[in-house]
Amino acid sequence: MPHPVDPTTTDAWRELSDARDDLEPDLRGWFASDPDRARRMSLDAGDLHVDLSKNLVDDQILAELVRLGEQVGLAERRAAMFGGERINVTEKRAVLHTALRAPRGTVVEVDGTDVVPEVHEVLDQIYAFADKVRSGAWTGVTGRRIKNVVNIGIGGSDLGPVMAYEALKPYGQEGLELRFISNIDPTDVHEKTAYLDPEETLFIVASKTFTTLETLTNARLAKKWLLDGLAERGAIREGDSDQALAAIAQHFVAVSTALDKVSEFGIDPANAFGFWDWVGGRYSVDSAIGTSLVVAIGPERFAELLAGMHTMDEHFRTAPLERNVPALMGLLNVWNSNFLGAHTHAVLPYAQYLHRFPAYLQQLTMESNGKGVRYDGTPVTTETGEIWWGEPGTNGQHAFYQLIHQGTRLVPADFIAFANPSHPLKDGAQDVHELFLANFLAQTAALAFGKTAEEVRAEGTEESLVSARVFEGNRPTTSIMAPALTPSTLGQLIALYEHITFVEGVVWGIDSFDQWGVELGKKLAKEVGPAIEGDADALAAQDPSTRGLIEYYRDHRGS
Ligand code: F6P
Repeated sequence: MPHPVDPTTTDAWRELSDARDDLEPDLRGWFASDPDRARRMSLDAGDLHVDLSKNLVDDQILAELVRLGEQVGLAERRAAMFGGERINVTEKRAVLHTALRAPRGTVVEVDGTDVVPEVHEVLDQIYAFADKVRSGAWTGVTGRRIKNVVNIGIGGSDLGPVMAYEALKPYGQEGLELRFISNIDPTDVHEKTAYLDPEETLFIVASKTFTTLETLTNARLAKKWLLDGLAERGAIREGDSDQALAAIAQHFVAVSTALDKVSEFGIDPANAFGFWDWVGGRYSVDSAIGTSLVVAIGPERFAELLAGMHTMDEHFRTAPLERNVPALMGLLNVWNSNFLGAHTHAVLPYAQYLHRFPAYLQQLTMESNGKGVRYDGTPVTTETGEIWWGEPGTNGQHAFYQLIHQGTRLVPADFIAFANPSHPLKDGAQDVHELFLANFLAQTAALAFGKTAEEVRAEGTEESLVSARVFEGNRPTTSIMAPALTPSTLGQLIALYEHITFVEGVVWGIDSFDQWGVELGKKLAKEVGPAIEGDADALAAQDPSTRGLIEYYRDHRGS
């Protein structure tokens, strides 16, 4: 693979630096003098309508950002990703989450083999399994219908399914509840199994590698909970290994790329769904990792989610960069962080069902682009990886928006809203969804256009309070709207942010698909274990701070 282009050496970067030096942000003035600005800077991709006009750019800057994309080889890298090249260089893997939603009959090759038939083979298996659970044909070991499905996974094996389950709650099946166990804090297993009936509970152990400490520990705890619970009710005999195996077969399925490890764990490989090393954990909600979601919303709806993702893939793959939504949003993020000095990026969905979307995006973006070296091992040449965060509006308005409006830091934000509510409700004559949308619109306008001292004075504010009440405006936002939150539009949103993440990574020259930065902590956790348990040598080997904390723990445990 060619070495990454250093973006800071391109002509476009130089032009953008000059443009930044000359920039006098004035969204009020820009909109006043250019009535066509909003129309010109709004684009449609699939069902998503995206308004970029409240960003701190003019046409020239947008054109230079597109040129930056061209000069760092965005189109070539995009073709390499879709074409199955091993662009995950440090793990020597292709990056083909887009193949997971390729329609039957499309050809996507990895090393000369078309992977699409395999993708659909596994999807068919998952769909058949989900149908059985949903119809009651798949029962627990005592013949009872499954009412609770508990996904055990962490990171990409948790955040995608839980985010999408929450987002698509109205599409769930009555009488079937999903829970998600991720944390190794034993509280998580305790709380998520509380009040569940083991006879009606099915666990899905989701782990790409099937080596993750948290997931395997939690799966063992769940297995014990199940067997103890069944034995207590007399459903199986304690210590009877055949009965235990039969129970595990009915109450545990697995999802992994490592099916050999699944059987070592005691789950019948017949009850396991596979996927491939060319699917990154944080890009895997649409692989078998989404099995719990398929059970919740059903195969048809899941297929709509995949189709929505594919729609966005096709837009990203084929639209020219200057009309390409993921490309423009990724390049705008580069503008905001590398030229305007923003360190963070807020995502503010005006949809309560998207309450886990920011958490999901945190892994997608920060595990992908939180890198200090480029894919050829050389140091990056500019800042990378914004800090992503957010909460649904309007809750955020009453918590942290103050800082976005009047603080000293620049916080670019994506606002997401839907024309139709998931639940239309009225407060007297007032359509509450319209009240909600009014807040979405008011916030983006207030952030862009602010309130001048003259306007504050005109309200009769006493002079000493005027400055506290001034809103400077010129806070950049992007507004994304869609007709409604559906499996398809959720799929389009997920794929949009996957591709935005990719575009940023291409500019910075990094491998957005590895995650070596999580390894050291895992290794140290193993080494620290014996010290906590009381091994004197292991304790002595710790640094003084860690030793002090372990001693505190040992002095206070059981207190
Ligand atoms: O945190 C590191 C990581 O490898 C993530 O990339 C991944 O999503 C998560 O752990 C879980 O991994 P696995 O699916 O292999 O259990």
